[in-house]
Amino acid sequence: MDDSTIRLRVLGSLELDTGGEWNRVHGRRKGALLARLVAAHGRTVPTAKLVREVWSVGVSRRSLAALQSTLSLLRRILEPDRAPRARPRVLVTTPSGYALRLPDPSVDVWHFERLVLDSGRHRDRPGQLDRLEQALALWDGPAYAEFAGQAWAGAETERLDELYRQAVEYHAEALIAAGDLTGAIVGLTTHTDDHPLREDAWRLLALALYRAGRQGDALSALRRGRGALRDQLGVDPGPALRQLETDILAQDRRLMTAGRHPEAPLVTGQQPGAPFVGREHELGRLHAAAQQVGTATSPAVAVLTGDAGIGKTALAARLAGELADRGWRSATGRCPDPAAGAPAGWAVTELVRDLAARVPPDQRTRARMAPVLDERVDLPFPLRQAVAGYLRGLATDAPLLLVVDDAHAADPATRSLLTDLPGLLDGAPVLLLVLYRPGELTGGLGALAGHVTERVTLRGLSRPAVTGLVEAVRGAAPDPAQAVAVADRTGGNPLYVRELARAVDPGTDLPDGLRDVLRPRVAALSPTARQLVERAAVAGGDVDVAVLGAALGVDEDTTVAAVEEAMAVGILAEAGGTRPRFAHQIVRDAVLADLSSVRRARLRAVLAHHSRVAGDRLVGVATMG
Ligand SMILES: Nc1ncnc2c1ncn2[C@@H]1O[C@H](COP(=O)(O)OP(=O)(O)OP(=O)(O)O)[C@@H](O)[C@H]1O
Ligand SMILES: [Mg+2]
Repeated sequence: MDDSTIRLRVLGSLELDTGGEWNRVHGRRKGALLARLVAAHGRTVPTAKLVREVWSVGVSRRSLAALQSTLSLLRRILEPDRAPRARPRVLVTTPSGYALRLPDPSVDVWHFERLVLDSGRHRDRPGQLDRLEQALALWDGPAYAEFAGQAWAGAETERLDELYRQAVEYHAEALIAAGDLTGAIVGLTTHTDDHPLREDAWRLLALALYRAGRQGDALSALRRGRGALRDQLGVDPGPALRQLETDILAQDRRLMTAGRHPEAPLVTGQQPGAPFVGREHELGRLHAAAQQVGTATSPAVAVLTGDAGIGKTALAARLAGELADRGWRSATGRCPDPAAGAPAGWAVTELVRDLAARVPPDQRTRARMAPVLDERVDLPFPLRQAVAGYLRGLATDAPLLLVVDDAHAADPATRSLLTDLPGLLDGAPVLLLVLYRPGELTGGLGALAGHVTERVTLRGLSRPAVTGLVEAVRGAAPDPAQAVAVADRTGGNPLYVRELARAVDPGTDLPDGLRDVLRPRVAALSPTARQLVERAAVAGGDVDVAVLGAALGVDEDTTVAAVEEAMAVGILAEAGGTRPRFAHQIVRDAVLADLSSVRRARLRAVLAHHSRVAGDRLVGVATMG
């Protein structure tokens, strides 16, 4: 018989197929001896070891005789057609002992192991999902179950169990990559229930939930994971889970598209190694503010504002990097979108946790700050004091830059702590840098105003900086006409510049990436504001706000409120006059691109009509293409 027709399985129970049907191996020693050789995966098991492990006795004439007779019984089953004097080819004798020689696919655990290890090594290969499904189909319960009491089996069973858990996670990862989110969620829910200490399982579950649009469930999965690690091991989750949580709260776009390895941190704002251009003047002012703090003994507050994508986060990161070279320490806490359902005071939690991971607080401080570290924060007074005490302590050995990003979205708990912070940190060299989009500050930070020593408003990058950024992204300098077109269309907004720089013709194209950035911003507007923006796009900046209102059929107050709403999120800009203007040409292009030509024509006609009625000039409406 050909060895490739022999099949052996030890997952579930030990069975052998030598002629087209599975049979149990009768006889306890026979089974144990065969299973022991399977566990050696083709390698030799020394004779003395086999005797000791299978018979639990030392080597003696009797035990060796027992081994020999069991071996020959097994050989008869494995190779029934072997001629009496022919050498065994399956259960072979080697110089030091015995080994089982079969091709990997003939033995279920060997095949399983090969499939899983290969999958782990080549996680991007096509066919990955199939291979993992094949591996999981082989798994039929723990390996060597009937030998559970034997020492040799214990370690091997455990190793294979671990491999199985790993396979479940690889499989879920492949499902997520293939877009089968429901499949991944179902599998991972059971898997995390069974193995609550597996961080990668929680990470994948949260990622799948997030991609399925279940942001709240994703965060709650991460929290359950953290709770389990805390309760059972007393440890914090590792960086991959923490980063994922932060990215989910920030609704990082890359979570939807990133490959299977979000372990690589997905940071918004300035990525390590990303080009940074211009901003010398603004950086200079922030450095000056830091310099004063470094020499004074009281904290200072600087605010940095500007439209979405203008480069606040990137600039703060740049400042932190440069200050680090001068011995500063820094940390950032982001205020997530309120709709993300983050715990109150999240920015403070993030900031303090980040610092505590680098400079662990002593036991007592840790205990006092525990609610912050555990995210049960409504930040009552003693807790604020504990946090402030820790920060003051840190600032005694290096000045501290605390960045609060996206403060326009700060929740009441964060806002209230922020306004108290300068007072609580009195006497410490701390620069609190608050980043927010103008017009979006939800109020409540007014009390900070008295402490603000520097206010920087970011506007578009200069022409040379735009050219520099396009060159950095494209790897080649744009021709002058293209550079001008990019600067004009984007108003120097680096987010748009970067996206546009990737287009074949940045003067006229509207890349998908840019549409993806702009669409949600328009979609998030109230219906009236969205309709107004659509009409303003068709009108091309040459129509009075009253005409837009009339075309919408709403009263003046509603029209003004809609204009303000669109201005607050940086779609329209302050124009000085009554003709709303787009903050950037590119935003108008994106809005227009989403309107069908029929719709554009209809809106144009309506606007023309209302302009005539109002006696307004018709330049924009009449000539717009
Ligand atoms: N000076 C710069 N040089 C090069 N790239 C920049 C610069 N400023 C910003 N960018 C890039 O532009 C994009 C948007 O910047 P950033 O995230 O800092 O904007 P933001 O003002 O924080 O926006 P938001 O209000 O949405 O948080 C990022 O990809 C960033 O790397
Ligand atoms: Mg930002």
